[in-house]
Amino acid sequence: MNIRNLLADDTYQQKKVLEKILCHHTGWDKADLIRHYDEEIDSALVEKIHEDYDAYNKNDKPLEYIFGYVEFFERKFKIDGRSLIPRPETEYMIEAVNEHVTQLKIEDWKLKRVLLDVGTGTGVLGMSVLMENPDFFDEAYLTEYYEDTLSLAQENFEQHQPSFGNKTKIRLIQSNLIQFMGEQWLIKADKAPHSIDYTLVANLPYIPDEVFDTQTEDNVRKREPRPAFVGGDDGLDFYREMFAQIFEYQKTSPQNRTMFLEMMTRQVDILRKEFGDKIAFEEIKTFHFNIRIVKGVMLHST
Ligand SMILES: C[S@@+](CC[C@H](N)C(=O)[O-])C[C@H]1O[C@@H](n2cnc3c(N)ncnc32)[C@H](O)[C@@H]1O
Repeated sequence: MNIRNLLADDTYQQKKVLEKILCHHTGWDKADLIRHYDEEIDSALVEKIHEDYDAYNKNDKPLEYIFGYVEFFERKFKIDGRSLIPRPETEYMIEAVNEHVTQLKIEDWKLKRVLLDVGTGTGVLGMSVLMENPDFFDEAYLTEYYEDTLSLAQENFEQHQPSFGNKTKIRLIQSNLIQFMGEQWLIKADKAPHSIDYTLVANLPYIPDEVFDTQTEDNVRKREPRPAFVGGDDGLDFYREMFAQIFEYQKTSPQNRTMFLEMMTRQVDILRKEFGDKIAFEEIKTFHFNIRIVKGVMLHST
């Protein structure tokens, strides 16, 4: 069978899915496929393509789990059922952080630079920021609550380590949000105020429980880990808890803290009402009508 026959085969109704599977197995892109229309493919490969198609079509397995990787900000990260699949809208956060880092470089304050990636999952956020800005941060902490998810982030860390530069001290930590900072070496009451500049990235679970259970696609509910998505009645439980942790640290160690957060549009207004006296929120990137990347700057009086 050649590529043209395979693509015309009625067994495969979802042609875009079939093309992606073909590209994955051949290493070609879509343009290559057209150029190789008349090329024969052996029966073992046809069988593998058929298996993958069935896994997607009949068993609701996302292609990223089938292929074992996801592309995020033009880099490949290993992915499997230990983590939710990173979504394209989250890539906007990397753009936002890059703009922030460019600004910090212009300001050139001699502060200790610390990156926090809270709820790292596969590690895409923290690791992309580090690869985009090698050697900019003095320290980076990537936290995750679930041990098996953290083990996946660790595998991605090992794969990408050569691209992080060699100056940043990076640690992956199992922690409830940023609780580790209260327990460990990082935050000490004797640290000079405003001597550290924190950049925090977090795409915490923010889907209201009921919305997840009633409105998300079947394959998401069936295949991806629920705790990576849901954040209580209005979806904001984790953000509230993380802010409470930050306010606590801020009491003993007032530092510069800039956050980049992903959430839904109406959630920004809720957080503004609740925390607007302590954090200045600004919507800086928009995806569709209801996803926002929000910048939160800790007000110094806090
Ligand atoms: C929406 S996912 C985001 C994953 C990744 N940062 C991304 O953007 O693709 C949320 C992540 O937070 C983790 N998480 C949930 N509760 C947590 C907690 N209390 N502390 C730390 N991480 C948590 C989940 O396991 C999940 O990996």
